[in-house]
Amino acid sequence: MLVSARSLDEYRAMFALTDDDLGLRILDCPGGAASFVAEAGARGTDAVAVDPQYGQGRDLLGTLALREIEHKHTDVAAHAERYVWDWFGGPERYTRLRAESARAFGADLAARPDRYVAGSLPHLPFEDRSFDLVLSSHLLFSYGAQLSEEFHLSALIELVRVARREVRLFPVVLHTSDRRYEALERLRAALDALGVPSRLDRVDYAFQPGGDEALVLDARSHGPLPTDRPGADDHDPVRWRHLGTEDPVVLGSVRA
Ligand SMILES: C[S@@+](CC[C@H](N)C(=O)[O-])C[C@H]1O[C@@H](n2cnc3c(N)ncnc32)[C@H](O)[C@@H]1O
Repeated sequence: MLVSARSLDEYRAMFALTDDDLGLRILDCPGGAASFVAEAGARGTDAVAVDPQYGQGRDLLGTLALREIEHKHTDVAAHAERYVWDWFGGPERYTRLRAESARAFGADLAARPDRYVAGSLPHLPFEDRSFDLVLSSHLLFSYGAQLSEEFHLSALIELVRVARREVRLFPVVLHTSDRRYEALERLRAALDALGVPSRLDRVDYAFQPGGDEALVLDARSHGPLPTDRPGADDHDPVRWRHLGTEDPVVLGSVRA
């Protein structure tokens, strides 16, 4: 798993965020090196990010993310045909925007450290219903080959627990392919049984072929949620590809 740096504009597009949405109290989980909290915060949004990488060594994150972006540029440029370019235009602009996000993230992390909270799904360090809206990009479903279905359900329930209105997740395809995460409908049925209806929304953003759908969970009127959250021991280390040669080097783990 990698730490990536998406921008507010990407978040707006991935999650179909309106100006009204940006007036809500928002959690970004996982925040990674995204500049959503920095940029939305600068325009007045009460936003917080949570990620296991915000623990020890977090001061290096902006720099490491920048190097990761440089490394990824080589890969993306060499295999440009694998991606959808409607939103970015091409590899050069993609890399420039991601680097701007990583820099904005690093600056905000230093300026407003309290906005970046160390924590891991499926156990977040927040009270029930702490946020109006919870956003989750490129962890669940994306890493469906590495994270178990059990972990996914526990994590989804946890995201619902800390939300008052909605949880939005993007994308619903695996990060290595254009295939939808295979247990998606089973997970939706399990959530439905807990009083959490969901829908799939098509959005005006795709970077992976077929990756233009967000899953929206309605967190307003569920009953009691199970407190037993299996799957917490799933382990998928964060890897920094630029530090590796053939094999990526593992610097941290997904567990806080
Ligand atoms: C690909 S990044 C996505 C970051 C950001 N949402 C974005 O779109 O730029 C995946 C992130 O998931 C974080 N992560 C890994 N395991 C996690 C867990 N159990 N709970 C919360 N975040 C986790 C990683 O540290 C990493 O920053």
